[in-house]
Amino acid sequence: MCGIVGRVGDDEAVERVVAGLENLEYRGYDSAGLALQNGAGLEVRKSTGKVQELKDQLTVESADGNVGIGHTRWSTHGAPTEENAHPHTNETGDIAVVHNGIVENHSSLRRRLEREGVEFTSDTDTEVIPHLVDHYYDGVDPKWAFTRAVRELEGSYAVAAMFDGEDAVFAARQGSPLVLGIDEDQYFLASDVSAFLEYTDEVVYLEDGDVATVRPEIVTVTTVEGRPVDRSVESVDWNPEEVNKGAYDHYMLKEIESQPYSLTNSIESHLTDAGDAIDVDVFDPATIAGFEEVQFVACGTSYHAGLYAANVLNEAGIRARAFRASEYQVAADPVSEETLVVAVTQSGETADTLGAMRTASSAGAHVLTVTNVAGSTAVRTADESLFIHAGPEIGVAATKTFSSQAVTLSLLAQHLAEYMESGTPHPELDAVLDGVRSLPGDLQRVVDSESASMLANYYLDSDAFFFIGRGLGYSVAQEAALKFKEITYEHAEGFASGELKHGPLAMVTPRTPVFAIFTGSHDEKTLMNAKEAQTRGADVVAVAPDGHPAIDETDAHLPLPETHPMWAGLLANVQLQLLSYHAANELGRSIDKPRNLAKSVTVE
Ligand code: F6R
Repeated sequence: MCGIVGRVGDDEAVERVVAGLENLEYRGYDSAGLALQNGAGLEVRKSTGKVQELKDQLTVESADGNVGIGHTRWSTHGAPTEENAHPHTNETGDIAVVHNGIVENHSSLRRRLEREGVEFTSDTDTEVIPHLVDHYYDGVDPKWAFTRAVRELEGSYAVAAMFDGEDAVFAARQGSPLVLGIDEDQYFLASDVSAFLEYTDEVVYLEDGDVATVRPEIVTVTTVEGRPVDRSVESVDWNPEEVNKGAYDHYMLKEIESQPYSLTNSIESHLTDAGDAIDVDVFDPATIAGFEEVQFVACGTSYHAGLYAANVLNEAGIRARAFRASEYQVAADPVSEETLVVAVTQSGETADTLGAMRTASSAGAHVLTVTNVAGSTAVRTADESLFIHAGPEIGVAATKTFSSQAVTLSLLAQHLAEYMESGTPHPELDAVLDGVRSLPGDLQRVVDSESASMLANYYLDSDAFFFIGRGLGYSVAQEAALKFKEITYEHAEGFASGELKHGPLAMVTPRTPVFAIFTGSHDEKTLMNAKEAQTRGADVVAVAPDGHPAIDETDAHLPLPETHPMWAGLLANVQLQLLSYHAANELGRSIDKPRNLAKSVTVE
């Protein structure tokens, strides 16, 4: 959570810092701020709320400078007020700092600094940093003062600092992401590449313990002890168009509608060039043959993708379970060297998931991460990585990344089934592969249909929204409910359809539509359960292909193209993403930045 950005060059920085903050706003939007260095003192501007508030302030009270740092906040320590907004400064205002992460020893540092006479002006953990840097700064060597201060910080941080009169940004990371962008005549620092992708795709992923000194003409990277380190420059294969909203009102709709494209990338990355076989390059066959079980650890939407994949593996005869990463650390299932733990994380930075990965690793399991972000902490923590290639996702609600995760994981599952002793390769593998190759076209038909928008309007005044399914349909029901509550703020629940009669049926009334997901497996039972709700007065919406027998027996229909049962849930999920989107839009919700949430959850 929180996004930080820095820009160093010879010309004006303010627009690029603000643009970077807008692109990182998905990481938090409680407040925003920036500091600029122009040779005549540091200029600091802050505002509560979204980056737009900061932009409005800059039109009234402009600021300029060729070197800048900025911050967009998701509050942890201290309320979302202007005092608590970053950048934070020392008492004289000539050192400014932005920070993402948590300084765990901030209380003791604060007490020490207060004893020295420092007066704090905010409730944040971050404010100790500029005062501590000031404590060590002799007016001559800013890099030494910064590094000396950083060495005293405990916890996680990506931190960037500027000094009055110094054409440089100093930055360090430990446990929070920080990437350097290298353009012809300027450098960027940011929590994530989307901050500067429109300028450059050449990046250096900084590692824990790195300290970067970024000047207009040169960047150096050292350890906190000052030893030089060599970090390689990599190219990012994300399309800069994807970080712009284009003609859309919301990133979420753009990202839903771009799935035929993003999914094509995911699918092509995991099939052979001819598209007739799976090509997933993780662990050698002998290592896979030694696996006896698979555990998925993940949070939120990524957990639902893990649930989907566990189901696919179970169908292939492999022992597999999905765990919520936060609970995994409390009560992990026993693991051994024969356990493969798959951490599913779009961002690669989710603290709960990283914690679960460490738990599994230290217990001896093999750890694989399935992620969207190269250079992320998950990639560095895992033994091996598999990328979903979905491109950048800016809307806080995950949409295209769920589809890419579920497809990547399902193909991985087939790959594991081929080599694990307990696995049985899918008896209709050719049909599965035909289905996956057709998915982008099928998805296009889903996004072109208008049924979800009509049903969203029709049911808008309902008291609650229930989603039910079996097997793969159950993971989709849970995901659909999460998406619905996340962006509409309405009550929504996802249930295993057979579970409805064991309690939740008590909540069903004529004012609670039930969306029943038909994937082509176990559909008779799902229909029976849906009808139990219908008998109690609820409208049942069949999320099913045209011509499905459930359509005649239910009240409304969200159509799906015909496909293999392995993929039908994904098509249903996209229809239900559209349902959530249109309902939230009608209700006037903050769709791309739902209240209280942030996309990258880097606290436990
Ligand atoms: C919901 C959503 C979240 C994330 C969760 C895990 O739409 O986006 O539930 O799925 O915070 O995030 P990652 O996948 O980055 O680990």
